Amino acid sequence: MKKVLFIGDIVGRPGRTFLAERLSSIRRKHGIDIVVANAENAAGGAGLNGRIAAELASIGVDAITLGDHAWDQKSFPSEIVSHDYVCRPANMAAACPGQTSLVVEKGGFRLGVFTVMGRTFMNPNQCPFLAADRLVDELKAETDAVLVEIHAEATSEKIALGWYLDGRVAAVIGTHTHVPTADAAVLPKGTAYLTDAGMTGPYRSVLGREVKPVLERFLDGMPRRFEVASGDVRISAALIEIDENRGLAEKVELLTVRKD
Ligand SMILES: [Fe+2]
Ligand SMILES: [Fe+2]
Repeated sequence: MKKVLFIGDIVGRPGRTFLAERLSSIRRKHGIDIVVANAENAAGGAGLNGRIAAELASIGVDAITLGDHAWDQKSFPSEIVSHDYVCRPANMAAACPGQTSLVVEKGGFRLGVFTVMGRTFMNPNQCPFLAADRLVDELKAETDAVLVEIHAEATSEKIALGWYLDGRVAAVIGTHTHVPTADAAVLPKGTAYLTDAGMTGPYRSVLGREVKPVLERFLDGMPRRFEVASGDVRISAALIEIDENRGLAEKVELLTVRKD
């Protein structure tokens, strides 16, 4: 049995600092083999940069994924190629830089990882279902198990992808909404599913940003700076147990770590 921790969107310095403080003890406590984290909001709440990617790798994140905020930091399109543990969403335009999937190997266990983005209420992307078909076939040939991240707004699109891939991959885990969901389950054919792993960042906020400017924006529609909030920082993640011989899941649960 192998244990994989999938950490939901790390938001800004509060998320990074708390994760750095706790990740090694979480790894030890749960006997985790591989850690995957979405870091699309790790740099000031918007995007990722090379320095922060390296910092996350140094605290024990084995694979870093991204989402619609992948390119928010100007330096990152040129930096991504020098970080071989980072992949960008697979169904972005083919011209985008960066790898579309990763293979992480720990103690002889090879886990394939990739992200697809949804298309409902989001900017145009290639079909996530067809992109997943292609990558699952590719990765299955060279790995023991595959973890798919669905970075999407609509719960229906995420759930549909879970059913689409049931029995073909070890896990389908959702991100992007920053709100953890209570539906962790192993689907009938053996795929671990969770609609959203939640965010690793400040929950006294609106999706990680200070409440006041977001609320005011809803009231008057005028643009404002949304600073990263600081209160009630939590780690939110999916903890998945994978039978490496079958490449399917035995168990999945939402893991929440609070400060006190
Ligand atoms: Fe996010
Ligand atoms: Fe996102």
